[in-house]
Amino acid sequence: MLARAQGVSGELVLREHEGRREVIAGGVFLMDTSDGRSERLLVSGAVRPGGHVLVGGLGVGSSLQEALDAGAAHVTLVELEPALVGWHREGLLGAASAAALTDPRVELVVADVIDVLGERPGAYDAVCLDTDNGPDWLVRQENGALYGDAGLATALAALRPGGVLALWSAGPSPEFERRLRGLAGGVRREEVPVRRGEPDVVWFATAP
Ligand SMILES: C[S@@+](CC[C@H](N)C(=O)[O-])C[C@H]1O[C@@H](n2cnc3c(N)ncnc32)[C@H](O)[C@@H]1O
Repeated sequence: MLARAQGVSGELVLREHEGRREVIAGGVFLMDTSDGRSERLLVSGAVRPGGHVLVGGLGVGSSLQEALDAGAAHVTLVELEPALVGWHREGLLGAASAAALTDPRVELVVADVIDVLGERPGAYDAVCLDTDNGPDWLVRQENGALYGDAGLATALAALRPGGVLALWSAGPSPEFERRLRGLAGGVRREEVPVRRGEPDVVWFATAP
């Protein structure tokens, strides 16, 4: 175990396992440093150079890094857990993520992303959400509001015209996808094969 803290979602643990670093919140595996392809796709598939992107969920920092690499002009990074941000700043998740947090393009907001989305309608060219293991596998029950009809409508309303809402999941979710298609202008689904079985899924949605 590298670090432990009392977080908003219960006990937060950072540990080293088989050469990778893992973050666990309230007993639920959140993210590790082993791959990151689908977490990067979440952002590269939605962001355009020079745009303003909101990234919801810091995790181990792959999506944040992708936003900077993709040339976003302004990145609003929203993370619920202050302790996790502290571990990044201390370099416990690598030098790259510590540096990313000091990039002048990054605005760090330590808050619930559901609240931030509602405060800023029409603000973003892309909203990239990876706060859970998917709509059907939440890290905290309160996050269910993000995937409900009202939460999705709020996230779509946070987009500028032509903007893209991207959502990550550790597997398909037909019921969620059906509802998203009913609310959005258009939806594209991409899958990233992973060794553990079901592919990671990323949905890209435009406002109606
Ligand atoms: C699966 S990890 C994100 C992985 C990330 N895409 C990456 O590249 O490492 C989920 C993150 O979202 C954060 N989180 C969970 N619920 C949240 C909420 N309601 N608002 C903001 N952040 C949240 C967790 O603390 C965690 O850092």
